[in-house]
Amino acid sequence: MNPTVSAFDPVRIGGLELANRIVMAPMTRSRAYGPGQTPTDLMATYYAQRAGAGLIITEGTQPSVIGQGYPDTPGLHSAEQVEAWRRVTDAVHAEGGVIFAQLMHTGRTGDPELLPGDLSPVGPSAVAAEGQIYTHAGMKPFPVPRELTADEIAQTVADFAAAARNAIAAGFDGVELHGANGYLIHQFLSTNANRRTDGWGGTVEGRTRFALEVAAAVVAEVGAERVGIRVSPGNPLHDIVEDDPHTTYKALLDGLADLGLVYVHLMETAGYRDLTESLRAQWPGAFILNPATRPEPTGLGELALIEDGTADLISYGALFLANPDLPVRLAAGGPFNSPDRATSFGGDHRGYTDYPTLN
Ligand SMILES: Cc1cc2nc3c(=O)[nH]c(=O)nc-3n(C[C@H](O)[C@H](O)[C@H](O)COP(=O)(O)O)c2cc1C
Repeated sequence: MNPTVSAFDPVRIGGLELANRIVMAPMTRSRAYGPGQTPTDLMATYYAQRAGAGLIITEGTQPSVIGQGYPDTPGLHSAEQVEAWRRVTDAVHAEGGVIFAQLMHTGRTGDPELLPGDLSPVGPSAVAAEGQIYTHAGMKPFPVPRELTADEIAQTVADFAAAARNAIAAGFDGVELHGANGYLIHQFLSTNANRRTDGWGGTVEGRTRFALEVAAAVVAEVGAERVGIRVSPGNPLHDIVEDDPHTTYKALLDGLADLGLVYVHLMETAGYRDLTESLRAQWPGAFILNPATRPEPTGLGELALIEDGTADLISYGALFLANPDLPVRLAAGGPFNSPDRATSFGGDHRGYTDYPTLN
């Protein structure tokens, strides 16, 4: 225990001074109703309301047209998206907040009907996830993705780098690479979605190569102090199997540490606390933990994870969605609003910007 460190203390990550160690976890809300998948003024209000977080990480944001897997998610691949995001980052900065954009390429987890023309979802291999995906037309089975060629992998890496450059142009303080939850980067890391026999598959080195290439390209574009990554070792979401997460993530974090990324954001899988601890011990930078204990309904129990050194920062998802002033409520010991799951994805201000603050 280190009772001299608390979740409410400031912390420096890279060149940024964060007001506290409480992070708003990335949450897709499917409300980017502006033309060309642009964020709206309502989104600016939503994020500005949550600027009391030490760090806000945005909803998953596609780095390219083909990286979009859900309806009405925002992008960072066009000039109009950069301009619209600028209103969001300005609103957050005006409230004293710090905000990173989460770059999410959903890979095989998508729906051809969301994509223009005859584009269809891509993945490391032509292997469909088992299960169903949320679409405009309700739940549908996952499609069989088209296997990316070597040239397309290089283009995808370049798309991530361009999106990171766009994020900085839009006023973001940095970007988080979404390497978790069964999306493209995680698909490459896995042993079932990635059946490649070339340099991007087969061995641990092969399966981690895409993540490291994306990270290296993004670091080269915007600087390592502005780049974090989210990973979810052992998480089976979207039909992901990892035969040996301990070996895979040790190798991945070794490579990412060489690149100097500013943080690792670990979304913990239940039963993997030992892996959390060994990756935390290995990682030289800031360590953000989204604990598997799933903090609802209060989040108070998780604060001790900062004092006992399990993490440098703690991220909260659903609780931040429902409590715009979450750090104030945690400091006061509550009370807490409960999230309304019916308004998670899509819709208007209800269940979005109308959750009350304490005062
Ligand atoms: C509505 C909703 C949308 C989410 N969208 C994303 C996302 O875009 N990117 C991501 O990495 N995680 C996403 N998550 C996962 C959260 O970041 C978080 O890891 C998860 O909710 C568990 O933490 P919690 O118990 O504090 O909510 C989402 C969660 C929720 C509830």
